[in-house]
Amino acid sequence: MLELCAVDDLENPGSKGFETEKGSIFVVRRNEEVFVYENSCPHFGINLEWQKDRFLDSEKRLIQCATHRALFLMESGECVAGPCPGDRLTAVPSKVEQGIVYLL
Ligand code: FES
Repeated sequence: MLELCAVDDLENPGSKGFETEKGSIFVVRRNEEVFVYENSCPHFGINLEWQKDRFLDSEKRLIQCATHRALFLMESGECVAGPCPGDRLTAVPSKVEQGIVYLL
């Protein structure tokens, strides 16, 4: 189990990228929910963020790819708008314990 960050280190809602031994990943937070995905858009297989740690749309409701603006649900990684509807971000197994996000 790899300790990633404290939930309170994340904006709410917010996102943050990490380089880990499992590759480039990012975490999104919505209240007490935290979701972790590989930083790879299912459309072209490239990183999603438009600036460091910026993975969300302007309303901070959905994950957005900066390149062609695909939008993904935070909770499932499913693409709901843009060039790859129905495709999914790849979830990274994780859990939150006592306010700390761990990769499994
Ligand atoms: S590379 Fe992400 S939407 Fe095209």
